[in-house]
Amino acid sequence: MMKKLLEPIRAGELNAPNRVWMAPLTRSRASMPGNIPNALMAEHYAQRADPRSGAGVIIAEATPVSPTGHGYYATPGVHTDAQEAGWKLVTDAVHARGGLIVLQLWHVGRVSNSALQPNNGAPVAPTDEPSRSKTYIDDSFARAETSPPRQLRPEELPGIAEDFAGAAARAVRAGFDGVEIHGANTYLLDQFTRDGMNKMAPPWGGSLENRLRFPLLVAGAVADAVGPGRVGYRVSPLSEHHDAVDSDPGATFAALGERLGAMGLAYLHAVETWDRSKIDPRVETVIPRLAKAFREAGGGAYIANGDYTPDQAERAVAGGWSDAVAFGKLWISNPDLTGRIRRDGPYTEWDTGTFYGGGAEGYTDYHPLDEEAAVPRS
Ligand SMILES: Cc1cc2nc3c(=O)[nH]c(=O)nc-3n(C[C@H](O)[C@H](O)[C@H](O)COP(=O)(O)O)c2cc1C
Repeated sequence: MMKKLLEPIRAGELNAPNRVWMAPLTRSRASMPGNIPNALMAEHYAQRADPRSGAGVIIAEATPVSPTGHGYYATPGVHTDAQEAGWKLVTDAVHARGGLIVLQLWHVGRVSNSALQPNNGAPVAPTDEPSRSKTYIDDSFARAETSPPRQLRPEELPGIAEDFAGAAARAVRAGFDGVEIHGANTYLLDQFTRDGMNKMAPPWGGSLENRLRFPLLVAGAVADAVGPGRVGYRVSPLSEHHDAVDSDPGATFAALGERLGAMGLAYLHAVETWDRSKIDPRVETVIPRLAKAFREAGGGAYIANGDYTPDQAERAVAGGWSDAVAFGKLWISNPDLTGRIRRDGPYTEWDTGTFYGGGAEGYTDYHPLDEEAAVPRS
């Protein structure tokens, strides 16, 4: 029987050939200095773009929208002309194979180090409390402390929303089919959303309505810039890294989902867990609630992510839990993941040692099972 995962799906203006999407994956291989996307990245994404064996939609890695949005070494940006030209290499290569690609728009907030900030300044956030998380700031990729943040002033917030909108417009000029707003994993927008991290005074902090004000300002500005049908939004209601805390994720994220749905966004994408063996049991209620709120308010598709096996993903879409599933690590080591799902495997294991930084090794040298799907080597 034809797998539901292999059926086409429409999400806003994205007409995807299948429901096996590629989750955003930071790989820190941008050219330095300048955080510029390059030919190696174009090859990596093109390898995963075939409409039959590749991803329904490739969600390209988290990409800072402004100089203060950076928090990790060698991540590509989307705020300079050189970066835009670099991304054009990527989108041209993906489109030449018939693929679809959207760009994840990122501001790390307090998860940064002054070494990566303009004038070695403090990272900015809705709190001056430091994050206990680590980052990496040079080509040693050694773990470094994050720096104590400076709390944002209210008058700075519209400018950051403009940075997101400008970056979205730049992404579309660079050839992307859409953008995904990174509201997950306790970066800037998530720091505003969760009551444990947002220490702003009203109207930007306090009540749920106030905490959603900045993320919704950003989403509205991005939707105005490129059209809501080309915009997705990623959340991680139950993730707990980087000191994530929210006293009521069910209510918080259902409210956010409802408001994003009312904007007519193309899709809502959730990291449900990073490890299904330790899954938070609240997923069973929190996720259906936010997906329902998003869809009923007028939003497009719900995209699930988080340590799914292909079989679990098939059950999720066949059972109506989600409209598509985004895979992360499996796409790293299986450039033809959809082709392999079509044949029930086998799947190649990924090497965690080559996740961040470096060159072709562990990046463009995983082979497809089906030779026809191979990208000709240049
Ligand atoms: C190497 C690596 C880089 C990642 N980079 C990002 C990123 O740029 N943006 C993001 O939202 N999530 C990022 N994630 C999280 C993944 O998108 C995904 O949520 C997570 O890996 C769980 O899904 P999986 O089990 O299918 O890989 C990253 C994960 C890994 C392993």
